[in-house]
Amino acid sequence: MRTACVILAAGLGTRMKSRLPKVLHQVCGVPMLQHVIGTARKIRPEKIIIVAGKHIELMRSSVDADNVSFELQREAKGTGHALRCARRGLKNFRGVVVVLNGDTPLVSPETVRKLLSRHKKNANDLSVVSFIAGDPGSYGRIVRDESGHIASIIEKKDAVGVQKKINEVNSGMYAFSQRALSLVDGIPVNRKKGEYYLTDIVELSLSKGLRTSAYCLGSEKEFIGVNTKDELTRASRLMQDRIIRKWIGRGVNFLDPGSVFIHPEASLGKGTTVYPGVLIEGHTRVSEGVAIYPNVRISNSSIGESATVRDSTVIEDSTVRRGASVGPFAHVRPGSVVGAGAKIGNFVELKKAVIGKKSKASHLSYLGDTRIGDGVNIGAGTITCNYDGKKKHLTVIDDGVFVGSDSQLVAPVRIGKNAYIAAGSTITKNVPAGSLALSRVKQKNVPGWKKKKIAEGNNKPAGSKKRG
Ligand code: UD1
Ligand code: CA
Repeated sequence: MRTACVILAAGLGTRMKSRLPKVLHQVCGVPMLQHVIGTARKIRPEKIIIVAGKHIELMRSSVDADNVSFELQREAKGTGHALRCARRGLKNFRGVVVVLNGDTPLVSPETVRKLLSRHKKNANDLSVVSFIAGDPGSYGRIVRDESGHIASIIEKKDAVGVQKKINEVNSGMYAFSQRALSLVDGIPVNRKKGEYYLTDIVELSLSKGLRTSAYCLGSEKEFIGVNTKDELTRASRLMQDRIIRKWIGRGVNFLDPGSVFIHPEASLGKGTTVYPGVLIEGHTRVSEGVAIYPNVRISNSSIGESATVRDSTVIEDSTVRRGASVGPFAHVRPGSVVGAGAKIGNFVELKKAVIGKKSKASHLSYLGDTRIGDGVNIGAGTITCNYDGKKKHLTVIDDGVFVGSDSQLVAPVRIGKNAYIAAGSTITKNVPAGSLALSRVKQKNVPGWKKKKIAEGNNKPAGSKKRG
């Protein structure tokens, strides 16, 4: 079946009380419109058309608009008028047109497929998807005749008497034949609001004798329409629950699922355990059997099999390889790689630092613009001095090096294979492989110093003592 999708996204969204166009508000870190585009893509339509208003350029740049075209609705004159604007982009298209609201981010491709199969099976001209709402709120009410057939959709403002209580409501998802679509131009203006309501297409279609049906598909959770900030939060929570249930089904363990955030594009391997307060953001890939302890944030990164990310650690745009351990309280900044079996301990900060296999920086270090080989030991308090006030410089530490505690490596500098840096050294020159580098002031011991000091103190004139 040839299909095209139209996404209505030009509404003013005044109920959001925000400058940002409504459909660009994020649900689980992704603009609502992007979620709807994603659903549309999954049914593989020939065309996806977005109807946008004055923010059309902002929309174009805010979503992944590959193979998506935009049509302008200069003034928000209602959903019926919006679909009329979309027709410009459908001139040469012959097939079924699916209409979706840009503010219903949880709509699933399965429901669109169900709609299409019903539409085709019944040879309909117009099919409307409805759902049962606990509270019909501001949704359009589906009015049925005595035989149970749809007669019209009445918006809340126009509903009278018992109509107000009807809890079968319009989802905003429709399928149109070309014949039904051509009726859009004939939608009358709604006198109360001065807008053209797409919902009036039902009566119009019936009056022309076109086959028109409403199907109650999907749930209230799926069709939540976001008009207010409160609904935005609710939609995010619903989507988060859906994401977490998916990963639980694939064998991920969550100790407190309600307290974590998993981005829709992120993935988690089976046997991975996620402790409370964890945020997995962006396109993060977590492999199998990983442990992610409380209050960790991982953003656009990849975590290898059986790795451990300990409490209160931040990992951004980086790679942690299999069996590595990071944290607690570590900060892995963009461009870093923690090698297989390596250990990055507490209060260690990495930035563009590549750490080789089984290397260790267990405590209190800054390693920036650094290439560290395999089996290296970085002592507590080691600092790479990578910035001279103007430029950043590289520190290279070859395999098997031992850097003693409290050392400063002033970049650019290279420490050769198996070299040894004595604790407390300030290294400003390259260290050849296998050598010991020692750069500290020689220690001097003064015997009996303390006793002498006390004696000196006692001989001072009275009144020179500090008051206690
Ligand atoms: C609409 C339906 C209602 C349905 C509900 C489902 C109408 C008249 N009402 O109500 O029956 O139950 O969706 O969520 O259609 N838009 C435009 N141009 C406009 C106006 C709106 O593109 O001039 C877009 C909006 O950006 C939005 C969608 O159309 O994505 C729906 O508009 P909205 O104003 O939110 O309609 P509702 O009042 O929610
Ligand atoms: Ca809406």
